[in-house]
Amino acid sequence: MSATQDVRAMTPPKVAERKGGVPLVCLTAYTTPVARLVDPHCDVVLVGDSVGMVLHGLPSTLGVTLEMMIMHGQAVRRGLEQSLMIIDMPFGSYEESPEQAFRNAARVMAETGCAAVKLEGGETIAETIRFLAARGVPVMGHVGLTPQAVNTFGGYRVQGRGSDAERIVSDALAVSEAGAFAVVLEKVPEALARRITGEVAIPTIGIGASAACDGQILVVDDMLGLFGDFRPKFVKRYTELGEAAAAAVAVYAREVKERRFPAAEHVFADAPKPADADASNSGQAA
Ligand code: KIV
Repeated sequence: MSATQDVRAMTPPKVAERKGGVPLVCLTAYTTPVARLVDPHCDVVLVGDSVGMVLHGLPSTLGVTLEMMIMHGQAVRRGLEQSLMIIDMPFGSYEESPEQAFRNAARVMAETGCAAVKLEGGETIAETIRFLAARGVPVMGHVGLTPQAVNTFGGYRVQGRGSDAERIVSDALAVSEAGAFAVVLEKVPEALARRITGEVAIPTIGIGASAACDGQILVVDDMLGLFGDFRPKFVKRYTELGEAAAAAVAVYAREVKERRFPAAEHVFADAPKPADADASNSGQAA
């Protein structure tokens, strides 16, 4: 399947222009309804490979496939009108060579209509970023804690403490110099994120980084309190939808057992009545 060119209001160059300006608002989304919900408030909507852990119950992002990213990308695109949609390239789809990265990124762009992809990695992936950027594939970088390298790091630890800071600075500079239009800084010390933001030419998007970054991103299910298994310190839970949903399901279960649901207003008479209309935009009687 193919998709038409993305003509949304926000573009990779417009994101790049926001360096040092009003902070960029970024969230993840994996489905059409959530994309519709976040779109009016966001500059960037990332179809993150966190989808594997958040929606599919995987233990890490390593099992996420290109097909999963494309399917969720197509769903998100249907819900966006103005934000820039970026899609994560999953583990194993870009590391082998710049050619492999281009082939898979081109497929993701053609099949979802996204205008950019995100790759994890710093100096080691800079050549690939340069190759893609020169061939019409805008790239967002991702340095610091890169979850696809969880086995190399031995866990989801803060990266760049002490003498390790220079490694993260070199990674961010390499990604910027290779032509990325923005870079995610994940789980690094606040002072280091502030320093990198001052040193790189492109916007930094923080997650567990610093308010000094040029933008912020969170996993939407985390900030809505929907994903309870894992609660990183850097996530602010703006609401607890998971608790509200669990309470609603408990009430539903009780009402079903007590035959209090469905009530008179949820059932149909033999002859159609105006009250039979569904509460939707279509307004069609059942
Ligand atoms: O996969 C993801 O959701 C991400 C963001 C948290 C930056 O990479």
